[in-house]
Amino acid sequence: MGYVGLCSAVGLALAGHDVIVVGRTQSKIESINKGKSPIFEEGLDEALAKLLAQGKFSATSDIAKAVEASDLTFICVGTPSAEDGSIDLTDIKKASEDVGKALTGKQGHHIIIVKSTVVPGTTEQCAIPIIEASSGKKAGKDFGVCMNPEFLREGKALEDFMKPDRVVIGEFDKESGDVLEGVYSSFNAPVVRVPLKTAEMIKYASNSFLATKISFMNEVANLCKKLGIDVYDVAKGMGHDKRIGHRFLNAGVGFGGSCFPKDVSALIHLAKKSGSKADLLETVMSVNEKQKRKIVDILKSKLDLKGKKIAILGLAFKDGTDDIRDAPSVEVLNELLKSGAHVSAYDPKAAENMRRVFPNVSYAKSAGEALTGADACLIMTEWPEFAKLTDKDFSAMKGKIVIEGRRLLDKSRAKFEGVCW
Ligand code: UDX
Repeated sequence: MGYVGLCSAVGLALAGHDVIVVGRTQSKIESINKGKSPIFEEGLDEALAKLLAQGKFSATSDIAKAVEASDLTFICVGTPSAEDGSIDLTDIKKASEDVGKALTGKQGHHIIIVKSTVVPGTTEQCAIPIIEASSGKKAGKDFGVCMNPEFLREGKALEDFMKPDRVVIGEFDKESGDVLEGVYSSFNAPVVRVPLKTAEMIKYASNSFLATKISFMNEVANLCKKLGIDVYDVAKGMGHDKRIGHRFLNAGVGFGGSCFPKDVSALIHLAKKSGSKADLLETVMSVNEKQKRKIVDILKSKLDLKGKKIAILGLAFKDGTDDIRDAPSVEVLNELLKSGAHVSAYDPKAAENMRRVFPNVSYAKSAGEALTGADACLIMTEWPEFAKLTDKDFSAMKGKIVIEGRRLLDKSRAKFEGVCW
């Protein structure tokens, strides 16, 4: 029932399938059955209301009933980072065991699809043995297995599900791959049919490449700033090359979120465990860690932070979401509070999540309120409302220092310095 599971469930139902979404939290189940999504995702509530009215969608905690009543089961549980960078398979193991148990009493064929982001080899070496042990049945004979990674961006998850660039199907057995390809037939997207662990690797390689693109641009951007070059113009000149493309070339405070840091760390850990090297990916992570601190270093070079009021606009790891996991703003708030600054923070969606981490920050109800009397302002995410701020809004500040962590304020007003422009 997270943003992958719930958005995939709603997306498959919108594509015409009957879907039962299974979770463990009763409050989430009740909320979904009332048409209120427990997560913030564009378009989700409207789609939920429509599907519930059509009777094509329901939420339950009863996994046995759900497996009994369906042809396929998608496992979409979380695989968070462990201390050493590897992924924590607790929920994958629990879900595999529960699905296996539910299969025991089920007649007829059933296909189990791992959608969670798991490192290459996990479906074969972890999920299948547990399902076989708890069901007493045989993979490939009594039940089918596939691995079907997701490429959903938070905030745009439903849109990305409905318009995939490709559908990747890792298959234990061809028959299951055929059935799963049929499930996606109405999506009109290219289908890539591969072995299980290849599908797992496609997910990690895709995310790690996107993260590499960002750290690459940030490294070029830091040099451009020294040379008085606008890296956004450089990106524009690069992006027309079809081999590069225009997307994911935005330099700034670095990447965050629950995926890029976790997935790159997991691939690094897997490389080391497999006796391979991950020099480039380790550099991608270290460039990113330094980039997050850069914006505070610039501020410190202009202002003694002790006792000063600093406005932070944007707290989530990006605009369009309330998710603060690994957000650059967490690092920035840490640094500012350590330096004795008073922080007034604003984010249209993520303030309540951040209050749980930093209760001693004051949370403004608007950008204007955060700016009032501030000695300096750091802009951390690309919420459209921040791009509309006027000189009048900024004139409410006591000081004149505004540093952009994301290129927001249109170029005609390029008077604000940026973290790498
Ligand atoms: C990402 C992948 O895009 C998605 O395919 C995968 O399934 C999950 O991980 P997400 O983490 O939700 O999605 O956000 P995304 O929009 O990719 O941005 C990730 C981070 O990179 C954000 O912190 C964003 O601010 C940053 N970013 C993105 C940049 O710094 N520059 C860019 O050009 C693009």
